[in-house]
Amino acid sequence: MKISVIGGGYVGLVSAVCFAQLGHTVGLIEIDIDRASSISRGSPQIYEKGLEALLSKHLEKSLHVSTAYDAIPDTEIFFICVGTPEGDNGHPDLSMIQSACQSLGRSLIDMDSYHVVVVKSTVPPGTTEGLVVPTVLEHSQRAGDEIGFCMNPEFLREGRAVEDFMHPDRIVIGSNDSRAGDWAESAYRGIEAPIVRTGIKSAEMIKYASNAFLATKISFANEIGNLCKRLGIDVYEVMEGVGMDHRISPHFLDAGAGFGGSCFPKDLSALIHLAEGMNEEPLILRSVQNVNERQPARMLELLQKKIGSLEGKRIAVLGLAFKNDTDDVRQSRSIPVILSLREMGARIAAYDPRANDNMKKMIHDIEYCSRATDALRDADACLLMTEWPEFGLLDEEFDLMKNRVIIEGRRILSCQDKEGICW
Ligand code: UDX
Repeated sequence: MKISVIGGGYVGLVSAVCFAQLGHTVGLIEIDIDRASSISRGSPQIYEKGLEALLSKHLEKSLHVSTAYDAIPDTEIFFICVGTPEGDNGHPDLSMIQSACQSLGRSLIDMDSYHVVVVKSTVPPGTTEGLVVPTVLEHSQRAGDEIGFCMNPEFLREGRAVEDFMHPDRIVIGSNDSRAGDWAESAYRGIEAPIVRTGIKSAEMIKYASNAFLATKISFANEIGNLCKRLGIDVYEVMEGVGMDHRISPHFLDAGAGFGGSCFPKDLSALIHLAEGMNEEPLILRSVQNVNERQPARMLELLQKKIGSLEGKRIAVLGLAFKNDTDDVRQSRSIPVILSLREMGARIAAYDPRANDNMKKMIHDIEYCSRATDALRDADACLLMTEWPEFGLLDEEFDLMKNRVIIEGRRILSCQDKEGICW
């Protein structure tokens, strides 16, 4: 098939290279010139396991990058993969969706064959039918039955996005007419996974509900963990026993500093605001958010209990990325920790194997170290924020500290004299 992917961020770029890997001819449309040119050179600005190898395999063969909407003139399916970042008051900012639909519509004006437009971006229920369909139709001046529309949410985890694309648990395709849905389905031919066909709004909601449920599992584990801590119980032992019930599953029950990243916090906020806008009280969702926001503060409470005032103290912060295997620091739990430490007068020495540069763009006035040992040297305490496997091996390196005060926000360290925040 001939596929165009609009947007060269995490989702768009991964989807484009994976569609090329499935044997399609793919055009990637990225209007940001810097981002497009680094993708064209084979070195994307994001780090994602396996991505560069696939990109260089297909670049200029079955994958073409363009800053205009003419990359693949006879495209059959367009996948809209632009960002929907958190906007004012927690509502997602849909301006990129809107302008992508306008440009896409204009590029379809002179075409007379059938096309399918698939929304992959995460959008609130009702957006595809209420914004995407009318905008594309208006700007293309085409009749409703000449363009099919689908909603096909992505469930890609950063760091494992290529693997998740090629081996998903399910592929959800929401459409209001079966021809469009069949076309979208055939783009995934070659992938072995159950296909779930739904209406468009259901597909939009499946994405939000999935992320909200996973976030709920994490906050639940954290709340139980906080109780466990008071009772001298290991929450990891508890959750192992809980997760063996197949109705619960063992995944996303790791207690600690809470969830970050570009999806969970944003999607949770969007769902809460959607509910509030309809005068529904999102009681569970709000609690999930509250528990998550409290976890970093609990780390600092524990730290103060151990070493007293933080004024002038050197604190090593290990891990800046919102999770391991990524350089992404968006909504990372290390951000509120660093900001509070700074406010309390601490001197911060931070280290992350991949994310130092990204965090530097956000917070400049702390010390960034190129090795964990540099951050630990002469530190009064260490806070562990990201589950990088390399941290699991640290032990005698902590002897470089003034005192071995080690507080773990992710269960990864193997040394014995650490203290977990909720276990
Ligand atoms: C998530 C969803 O998993 C994915 O399906 C969706 O499409 C995008 O959002 P991602 O943001 O890449 O993916 O990260 P994920 O691996 O889900 O972790 C999110 C956060 O939760 C991380 O900060 C992680 O450290 C935290 N987490 C995860 C926990 O605190 N405990 C857990 O048990 C699991």
